[in-house]
This record gives sequence, structure tokens and C-alpha cells, in this order.
Amino acid sequence: GFKEVHFYDVTDSTNSRAKEYGKPDALFFANRQTAGRGRHGRKWLSEEGGLYFSVTLSPPLDYSELPKLTLIAGLSVAEAIPQSEIKWPNDVLIKGRKVCGILSELHGEVERPLVIVGVGINVKNPHPENGISLSELYDVSRREVFEQVIRNFSKNYRMLLDGRWCELRRRIERRCSSVGKAVRVTTPSGVAEGIAEAISEDGSLVVSGKKIYAGDCIHLR
Ligand code: BTN
Repeated sequence: GFKEVHFYDVTDSTNSRAKEYGKPDALFFANRQTAGRGRHGRKWLSEEGGLYFSVTLSPPLDYSELPKLTLIAGLSVAEAIPQSEIKWPNDVLIKGRKVCGILSELHGEVERPLVIVGVGINVKNPHPENGISLSELYDVSRREVFEQVIRNFSKNYRMLLDGRWCELRRRIERRCSSVGKAVRVTTPSGVAEGIAEAISEDGSLVVSGKKIYAGDCIHLR
């Protein structure tokens, strides 16, 4: 469970609220954001009707394992949304269109970093053209989606800390549409192109035998 839950009708970014707070085990939620942030400095359109929240964590994990947190956040969303798939590392898509984005940020000291996992889900809100909202597909309760994602995340997080990453990884792989596809991944150190073969033990994506730890993945046809 979370030690603190903060609800905002409007705030600039729940990730910023979480960072300001600076301690683990809190949840920040907003009905809309005026400066929602996406990965790579992009903006995240955050109008009313969507879900925007961030959790703060300080898990007793090795630094190299932190990417697993983002992956289990994506899994927790995907398992709450029928017909959805994970695009490595952390988008959730329906019919190839983005329904959820995740922005993880690291703060604090290296020995015990504070991880902020920010999640945006298109539920009944306006979204960019390549996106999709759940309400376009079926009747949906914002509250139910939120509660299901939080329940899933709490369970999956506990499993991760209990050393059950193997099971989690299998479930991620099963839902990951990138695996088996030809992909192009833009990483901080260059572009990798090839067949995505697996999610490996450490959460990286194996592309034609090479492990990719971070990047933006495009599915090629
Ligand atoms: C992406 O796909 O680029 C990531 C988008 C992450 C958006 C969420 S909404 C809640 C949290 N607060 C933010 O400012 N961003 C994340």
C-alpha cells in the first residue's frame, strides 16, 4: 500500500509533484496536467478524461534492475486493458495506437535512488492522432481502470521484490508485441535494427542477438 495519496484536480505534472515530495511509497494523481511530460522531452497532452498519476519507489534493488520497474508498470497497465499490447520498453498500444505512455525518472542518491514512475492513460480524453482512447472502443469507467492498474502494480511490484522476476518477465514477453518483429531501436549510443527476439533476464530487449537497454522502438514491416 501507499503511505500517502495526493489527488489534484489540476497540476503541472504529477512527476514533478512526486519529485518535489522526494520520498518513496506515495501516489500522485491529477484529473488534468498543464505541463504533462513525455519521454525525450516531449509533451504529454493531459486534458480532463484521462488518467495521470505517478508513484514514488525506493526498492532494494540493484541499479541495473531499475528498468524492470518500468516494464512491470507497462505490464500492470496492459493486464488491465483488454486487447492491449506492450511496445518495448513501455508504451501500451491497442491496434497499434498508443493508449498509455510511461515516464520513469531517477532522483536521489545512487545507493538508494528514488524512482518515479509516471503513467498516462487515454480513457475519455482528447489525444494525439496516433493515439487511442479506451472510450472509443467500449464503455469504460476511469475509476475502475485506475484501481485495476494500481492493484496490478502493487501485486507485480511485490512479486518483483520477492524475487519472482522470471514469472513477470514471461508475462511481459507474452504481451509484448515487439518480440518476433523486425524493429528499429534508437538508443543513446546509436540505432539498432533487426529482429526483436526476447526480453532478456535483465529486462533488456534482444535485437538480433544484441541486448538493448534503453531506447525508442519502432516496429518495421
Ligand atoms: C511517453 O510516452 O512519452 C510517456 C508519457 C508519460 C505521461 C505521464 S502522465 C503522468 C505523469 N506525469 C507526467 O508529466 N508524465 C507522466
